[in-house]
Amino acid sequence: MTKSKTVFLNGVYLPIEQATISVMDRGFLFGDGVYEVIPVYTGSLFRLDGHFERLENSLALTQIGNPYSREQWRELIMPLIDNTKDQYIYMQITRGAAEKRDHAFPVGVKPSVFMMCNDIAPFEAKDAGVKAVSVEDNRWSLCNIKAIALLGNILLRQQAVENNCAEAILVREGYVTEGAASNVFAVVDGVLITPPKNNAILGGITRDVILELAKANRIPYAEDILSLDALKTASEIWLASSTREILPVIELDGDLVAGGRVGRLWQAMNGLFQNYKIAYAEEHKNS
Ligand code: PDD
Repeated sequence: MTKSKTVFLNGVYLPIEQATISVMDRGFLFGDGVYEVIPVYTGSLFRLDGHFERLENSLALTQIGNPYSREQWRELIMPLIDNTKDQYIYMQITRGAAEKRDHAFPVGVKPSVFMMCNDIAPFEAKDAGVKAVSVEDNRWSLCNIKAIALLGNILLRQQAVENNCAEAILVREGYVTEGAASNVFAVVDGVLITPPKNNAILGGITRDVILELAKANRIPYAEDILSLDALKTASEIWLASSTREILPVIELDGDLVAGGRVGRLWQAMNGLFQNYKIAYAEEHKNS
C-alpha cells in the first residue's frame, strides 16, 4: 500500500484523506482566497522571497490577514518536503468559515490555511515544443492577485485542451496579456518581449528570473506591449511558469512558429535557467 500524503491544514499535519474543511468556508462558497505555488528543487525553496512578496500582496489586496510571518511559513512548509525530488508547494489561504453565507466580509473569522507538496512531473513535450491557441481574455481586471477563484482561467485553458494545445494565450483588445496559467514571451526582431507587469497579468516569478538572466547575459529584452499581430510574426514564443518552467511554443493557432522548430534563444535561456536553478539550490541549501 502506498503511504498517504501528509498535508497541512489549519495548524495540523495530517493524511490528505483526513484533511477536510467546513462547507461554510468562504474558499468553498465564494472562491474567497489566495494561493501560491513555490517550486522546491532538491529540498530548496526556489525564490522564496519573491513568492512571499507576491503572497503578501495578494493578501493585502483581498484584505485577508496574514496568519504567519515569513519565518513561520518557512518552518511550516519544511516538513512537507521530500528532499530527493523536484516538487512544488501549494499554499492556500481563504477568508475562513463564517456562520452564514453573506457576500460581505465576516467579522472575527480566522483565515483557513492549507498546504500540500506535489511532485513536479517533467513536462513531456518541453524539448519538442508545444502548441498554443489565442483566445479572448475575458477575465476580471485584478489579475495581479493570485486568487483561488480561477473559473475564468479554467474555462480558457479548457479551450486550449479542446484545440489539442498545451496553453491558451490570452488577448485583450488585440494585445497579449498572459497564458491561462503562465506568462508569455516572444522574440520579435531579435528582442525578447514580455508584456509589462500590471493588473492585467499575474507577475510571475519565473518571468522575473528570465528577465534577470536576459539582463545578466546581454540578451536584448523589453517589458512592452505585445500585439497579437506582432506575436504572429515572432521568431520564438515561450510560456513561463513555476510548474512548467520555460516552454517553447512551436505552433500558434495552427500556424508553425519559425518553421515548427524550437528556437535558439529558448535553448540558450533554458540552459541558463537550468544552471541558475542548480546554483540557487546550492546557495540556499540550508536556508
Ligand atoms: N500559475 N500567470 C498566471 C495566470 C498563472 O497562473 C501563473 C502560474 C503564472 C506564472 O507565475 P509563476 O512563474 O510565478 O509560476 C502567470 C501556477 C503555476 C498555478 O496556478 O498552478
